[in-house]
Amino acid sequence: MISRTNPSQPVRIGIIGGGLMGREAASAFARWFTLVDFPVRVELVAVCDIQPGLLEWFSQIPTVRCLTVDHHELLAREDVDVVYVAVPHHLHESIYLDVLRAGKDLLAEKPFGVDLAVARRIRDEAKALGRFVRVSSEFPFLPGAQRIHQMAATGAFGRILEIRAGFLHSSDLDPLKPINWKRQNRFCGEIGVMGDLGLHVAHIPLRLGWRSKTLYAQLQKVYTSRPDGKGGRADCDTWDNATLHTTVKLGDYAAPMTLEMKRMAPTETNTWHIEILGTDLGARYSTKEPKTFWTYRRGKEQSWEKTDLGFAVPFKTITGSIFEPGFPDLMQQMWAAFIAERAGKLGDRFGCATPDEAVASHELWSAALASHRNQSVVVPA
Ligand SMILES: NC(=O)c1ccc[n+]([C@@H]2O[C@H](COP(=O)([O-])OP(=O)(O)OC[C@H]3O[C@@H](n4cnc5c(N)ncnc54)[C@H](O)[C@@H]3O)[C@@H](O)[C@H]2O)c1
Repeated sequence: MISRTNPSQPVRIGIIGGGLMGREAASAFARWFTLVDFPVRVELVAVCDIQPGLLEWFSQIPTVRCLTVDHHELLAREDVDVVYVAVPHHLHESIYLDVLRAGKDLLAEKPFGVDLAVARRIRDEAKALGRFVRVSSEFPFLPGAQRIHQMAATGAFGRILEIRAGFLHSSDLDPLKPINWKRQNRFCGEIGVMGDLGLHVAHIPLRLGWRSKTLYAQLQKVYTSRPDGKGGRADCDTWDNATLHTTVKLGDYAAPMTLEMKRMAPTETNTWHIEILGTDLGARYSTKEPKTFWTYRRGKEQSWEKTDLGFAVPFKTITGSIFEPGFPDLMQQMWAAFIAERAGKLGDRFGCATPDEAVASHELWSAALASHRNQSVVVPA
């Protein structure tokens, strides 16, 4: 006879913002049992969105006992331990601070506020209140990203010659695509595409301690207005593309690191990539080929070697080791890292982006704005 009871108290989660990402998070929790021997259970108990129509979707989840249009109501509940906030960027500061002051832990969506000053305020408040806070960035949980991080952390590349990382979209190439909040400074701040895609790109370099000592940015705005969806036009004033040429100090030498965040990258749909070239080894990984890992080894002949990685994620699941991971898997892996670290059970596995790393990413975006404004090389804060 197998007992069906699990005595451990679940971590009870609330979601504020039930749009694209709120639903992805709900899906990760709903199949939590696919994680093998994971030490902590989770339960989605409450969801808030200002659109009642969206809330209806969450009513099909049996553990959800509160659906509300007012996030204060969700935060007043004693049966919520952790809150995931996935709302437009101009609301991040006020809602993140409300979460922290309500005594809840937070998985914040990126960006960590709309600018550097806001990011510092949220980080400092979390520290003062002793809350556990991490920031969303899923792609480092990919098998290829994990492999490249591990190689860099153990010095496998030899002397690093160059680093390139990026996150590329192309859907904005269509000038008839209607405007949405992600394309307007009043919702996203001046950092534009860097706030939207940047932490995904910077997370691994920042985790490796690679801080940019100098930075030169090329920022582009392409279409300055778009259909407003109501028969008129609306301003589209965020930066579309950002290329940051930086120099990172790596021990007693320096190397160039290029970070690219683009919404106007022909042929790319959600392509996250990273490449590190060294004197002994080089490695390259892109979501364009999700299970393929490319390695270069110094030798007589110059060539790339191709390895199929399979489902090598940090937290084991029931999924077979030869299968390919997708975005929903990464979302669940990121959440597993958050929950494990909060419980003191992360061990030596890769953790979610920290508030300090999110602030460090904002230092890059701030420097990029200054560099572009003055057309000069700047030293990030
Ligand atoms: N980590 C990732 O890969 C990833 C991908 C896409 C978006 N995001 C981030 O997730 C966040 C949300 O983006 P999205 O794509 O889900 O946007 P979305 O527009 O699909 O969803 C946002 C939701 O927030 C709701 N909302 C607005 N104001 C609210 C309020 N005061 N209280 C409660 N709900 C409110 C809206 O009604 C909407 O349903 C952003 O920070 C975005 O950058 C992250």
